[in-house]
Amino acid sequence: MTADHKTIKAIAHFINDNPRSKIIFMVGAGISTSCGIPDFRSPKTGLYHNLSKLDLPFAEAVFDVEFFEENPKPFYTLAKELYPGKFKPSSFHYMMRIFQDKGRLQRIYTQNIDTLERIAGIDEKYIIEAHGSFAGNHCIKCKKEFPMEFFRSKLDQDFEDKFEFARCNKCKGLVKPNIVFFGEDLPLSFFETWDDDLLELDSSKEKKQEYMVIVAGTSLTVYPFASLPSEVPKIIQRALLNREIVGDFDEAPRMNDIVFEGPSDEAAELLMNELGWMTELKELKKEFKERKKYQDSEENVENLVEQLDKLELNAVKIGVTIEEGIKKSTFEKKK
Ligand code: OAD
Ligand code: ZN
Repeated sequence: MTADHKTIKAIAHFINDNPRSKIIFMVGAGISTSCGIPDFRSPKTGLYHNLSKLDLPFAEAVFDVEFFEENPKPFYTLAKELYPGKFKPSSFHYMMRIFQDKGRLQRIYTQNIDTLERIAGIDEKYIIEAHGSFAGNHCIKCKKEFPMEFFRSKLDQDFEDKFEFARCNKCKGLVKPNIVFFGEDLPLSFFETWDDDLLELDSSKEKKQEYMVIVAGTSLTVYPFASLPSEVPKIIQRALLNREIVGDFDEAPRMNDIVFEGPSDEAAELLMNELGWMTELKELKKEFKERKKYQDSEENVENLVEQLDKLELNAVKIGVTIEEGIKKSTFEKKK
């Protein structure tokens, strides 16, 4: 058995030996790389390494409010690439969903803006999107709120052509998604929920409620999120599932820390196997595939109806019925 298998066994033991225990996850971009979304800081494959084509003064400028105010285009280019909807959850996301379904999930603190936790079917009461999401927008000048579509619709433009940015109808300020940029505050819910969860962790002994904190797929470099693992009380079991040893696990390792150095999906699958929850994992993946197929076919039907509507309009214009219109267009196509 490899060292990695042993660490996963140790997590499984904790979960089995403490049948009422709950998990707090703290995650970052690394849990979504297998979904085709690059992380930020991995050498060669990370976004910050590949942003040179956007002509930025420094890589993190793409998430900098002052830079965005001067030059919003690089963020639009990135948003188009990263916009939620086209990616499917990883084994790791589904593993968190299974913990929810089994009543063993306390919380997920995520730095990710891909909303894959929600797409995996996790209830939003468990999720803290510490760096916000694309779900809403606001004007950076007067703070007026705008619906999701207000920004999204601008991404349909041809990026080479004359470009129209999302602007506030009140003050003409630039409108941006509610993603936390450098120089902006994290959502209040992040601080409030962490305070509540910390109280729970602190009083876990008296309440006889055990917890484990699992940190995964993050370089723990962006604060205040990066300080969460160090704030976990010493009596609480911590685990790190990551390609490299990072943050507090490196600087102030604890005797009982469990560390798995490798891909987070592999860790998730080994753990599900160890706990006998593999069938649930496979079923969730299958269910997603079927739902996707259904959604795609629904979209096809919608497109077809739209085309038929157009055809009917044309048919009306030229004074024929819809059946004739269809025949005519089929006929024309064959010609
Ligand atoms: P990073 O790119 O900084 O770190 C990703 C971490 O995940 C690294 O330690 C990788 O080694 C590891 N990793 C990559 N792929 C993995 C895999 N398949 N399995 C396990 N580990 C893997 O990403 P974050 O820590 O999430 O801010 O970055 C934090 C914040 O910095 C982001 O939220 C973003 C960025 O600026 C905003 O979007 C506002
Ligand atoms: Zn405004």
